[in-house]
Amino acid sequence: MRTQVGIIGAGPSGLLLARLLHLQGIESIIVERQSKAHVLGRIRAGVLETGTVELLREAQVAHRMDRDGLIHDGFNLAFDGRRQRIDMAHRTGGKHVMIYGQTKVTEDLVEAHLGAGGQIFYDAPAVGVEEYSTDRPRLIFDKNGRHQEIVCDFVAGCDGYHGVARQSVPGNQITLFEKIYPFGWLGILSDVPPVQDELIYANHERGFALCSMRSPTRSRYYIQCDLEDRVEKWSDDAFWDELRRRLPADVAEQVTTGPRLEMSIAPLRSFVAEPMRFGRLFLAGDAAHIVPPTGAKGLNLAASDIYYLSRALIAFYKEKRVDLLDRYSAAALRRVWKAIRFSWWFTGLMHKYDDDPISHRLQVAELGYIAGSAAAQTAMAENYVGLPYEDFT
Ligand code: APR
Ligand code: PHB
Repeated sequence: MRTQVGIIGAGPSGLLLARLLHLQGIESIIVERQSKAHVLGRIRAGVLETGTVELLREAQVAHRMDRDGLIHDGFNLAFDGRRQRIDMAHRTGGKHVMIYGQTKVTEDLVEAHLGAGGQIFYDAPAVGVEEYSTDRPRLIFDKNGRHQEIVCDFVAGCDGYHGVARQSVPGNQITLFEKIYPFGWLGILSDVPPVQDELIYANHERGFALCSMRSPTRSRYYIQCDLEDRVEKWSDDAFWDELRRRLPADVAEQVTTGPRLEMSIAPLRSFVAEPMRFGRLFLAGDAAHIVPPTGAKGLNLAASDIYYLSRALIAFYKEKRVDLLDRYSAAALRRVWKAIRFSWWFTGLMHKYDDDPISHRLQVAELGYIAGSAAAQTAMAENYVGLPYEDFT
């Protein structure tokens, strides 16, 4: 087989890239390890930055998002029995975020790409990328128990943290930075109305809690849990009780409870691989970096990588330019590190780390400072709505 851009992974990164290339007449083939049902069944975060929203519109997959997505102008911090609203729109000159689940983003992308004749091989794990230092890299994958090969101009490794693209690069050519946090998030998805019409991030002595949503009738809540914790140990009632203990009393009494649609535990990690380009192999999204979910930057960073990568590939095919391909890794990484920093900082501000009482007092002091400082609220708001993409022309 032969294509222009071979893409590993049919998550948001791979699909968005394929879609943006297709709209410019550039062909690609996606190989995906899992089945279509499996990929579309994954529950992930649901807060889209302005840049992500604009890119989805550019990819012509925004119809349902623009109809059903919820625009949020602010979010709330709860701590020490108080609450502070961060007015994103006011602090950033009118910017906001869009609440629309990653599961739906993925569905919209798959439907558009397949509808336009795009090629996705499901149940087709890539096993390696070869010859990426030449101008004819090869993507090797398994389908129906047989090794197959796609000869490409470029390969995009959009295959997430556990993918093979990054692992195809010799260890001495890549630098990995990693931090594992000593706790996880236990999340519930339930068809009950959200407790408030904006998100609430709660710092509490018992641990962090988050009130989020997918729609006016579907809520997503999280509580910090131990790394050893198991979903099987949590009944729905136990979850709701613990959530309510960590929320301000007036909020807790408003929570509508209901049976789970899904409950899962996610570990928290900060991870960056440098560089993000090796000859004609490019990494994007979770294949190159992971953030803890505090602040919901994962999908948004995948989108900004694809913003840079799609423009670099389009400039190559349309104008025979290689300069943007050369600048991809550095430009993407500058934004990645800023989001890594914000997610790490927000995680540290909100979670219970140990039983040392000074840690909690310091968090409450910092939250109190934010509540009283326009400058601190502006810094938080501009990171939350998403830092601008740099000029990449
Ligand atoms: N061959 C083919 N596909 C693979 C392989 C492989 N060897 N390994 C992994 N994949 C697939 C996974 O099954 C998954 O569908 O690559 C896809 C990667 O998708 P994501 O993990 O969603 O990563 P990405 O597209 O970069 O999106 C980033 O999604 O995971 C969240 O938190 C993350 O929100 C962020 C966003
Ligand atoms: C979610 O809705 O799943 C969500 C929202 C905000 C976060 C993380 C997750 O910071």
